[in-house]
Amino acid sequence: MKIAILISGRGSNMQRLIDAVAAPDFPAEIVCVISNRPKAKGLAIAAEAGIPTKIIDHTVFDSRAAFDAALGDALEAAGAELVCYAGFMRILTDEFAAKWEGRMVNIHPSLLPAFKGLNVQQQALDAGVTISGCTVHYITPALDSGPIIAQAAVPVLPGDDADTLSARILKAEHQLYPQAVRMIVTGEVRFEDGRVVTAEGATPQRFL
Ligand code: GAR
Repeated sequence: MKIAILISGRGSNMQRLIDAVAAPDFPAEIVCVISNRPKAKGLAIAAEAGIPTKIIDHTVFDSRAAFDAALGDALEAAGAELVCYAGFMRILTDEFAAKWEGRMVNIHPSLLPAFKGLNVQQQALDAGVTISGCTVHYITPALDSGPIIAQAAVPVLPGDDADTLSARILKAEHQLYPQAVRMIVTGEVRFEDGRVVTAEGATPQRFL
């Protein structure tokens, strides 16, 4: 399966996907890494790994639709069959999300459906939860609301601030995302009629 990865910054989840896909028994290849930010650190990491990179700077487009059209063209040109958001901080038009529905996934640093949007680790601290984590989900038009493929939980510890909690969640992300993508490319999970279906039944995977 041909995978495209979308980033906006550091690219540590992208790095983990690159490493995982490099394993001989991982039936996928990463065909391109696209960033909407020219200075995203992850671009250099991808280039170092020999993966074609592309910058589609959202600031030069005068509408969301025009940016989405350029992104869609780039994904199609690369032959992408699965699109993995890895810290890609752009909200796409409903039309784009609908067109790619079932072929786009995201990793989000909370246990959805709790804490959508931005600064979700701080949201979790403010809410006083004692367990948080991360979620891999299919992308649908509604923000951070698509069907859940996999989740991992981490404790919220006394004295945590947004940085310490983010670091703990990020470690879990690095384990979870490659596992979730592996389940997709091997056909263990698939998107069907707006929900996640597993090969055995219909239960989303969980990792604790
Ligand atoms: C990760 O924590 C990811 O879950 C989050 O951005 C960070 C990117 O880090 N994504 C979102 O918040 C999306 N809503 P990375 O660039 O090092 O992978």
